[in-house]
Amino acid sequence: MKTRLKQLFPPEEIHLAITRLANEIRRDYAGKTPILIGILKGSFVFLADLIRALKMPVEIDFIRAASYGSGDTSSGNVRITKDIDANIENREIIVVEDIIDTGMTLKVILKHLGTRGPASLKLCALVDKPHCRQAHVEIDYLGFHTKENFLVGYGLDYNERYRYLPGLYVMEKDK
Ligand code: IMP
Ligand code: MG
Repeated sequence: MKTRLKQLFPPEEIHLAITRLANEIRRDYAGKTPILIGILKGSFVFLADLIRALKMPVEIDFIRAASYGSGDTSSGNVRITKDIDANIENREIIVVEDIIDTGMTLKVILKHLGTRGPASLKLCALVDKPHCRQAHVEIDYLGFHTKENFLVGYGLDYNERYRYLPGLYVMEKDK
């Protein structure tokens, strides 16, 4: 099976979306130092650009989850494979995710972080695929939404490929 990539959001559009998100976050967290928690691995490129666009003091940490079963998205059986290092009690937390598909990963991660007593817990996602949703998640800051099924580039992978691409691409499979 061959795959074809079609550019959906070029780097310039991603940059504009991140500037808008950063402006919203800076306004909402004025005078505070939130902890941004990136979900590994996909969000590391987005998080790196976001914190530089924020131009305000933030701390960062990472969490990682895996889902049993095969396929491109979570099977619903999600477990945390790398926990955060930070003490988030009474801290302002912003979870940073690359793309939301079923919402299962986020449901588990937000519930997990919520038990650690944060002062607030919000979600910032670069891309939403609302047509794939199975679990409800509240998105506080969103870059793009799309009706496409599978995206790669800008940190997002297909079997570890394409993370390095500076734009976001739709992956089309030729049978
Ligand atoms: P979930 O289905 O919302 O739990 O998504 C789980 C994870 O699958 C996300 O954190 C992404 O890393 C990955 N994922 C979901 N959709 C895509 C996609 O279109 N491209 C690349 N990775 C994806
Ligand atoms: Mg991910």
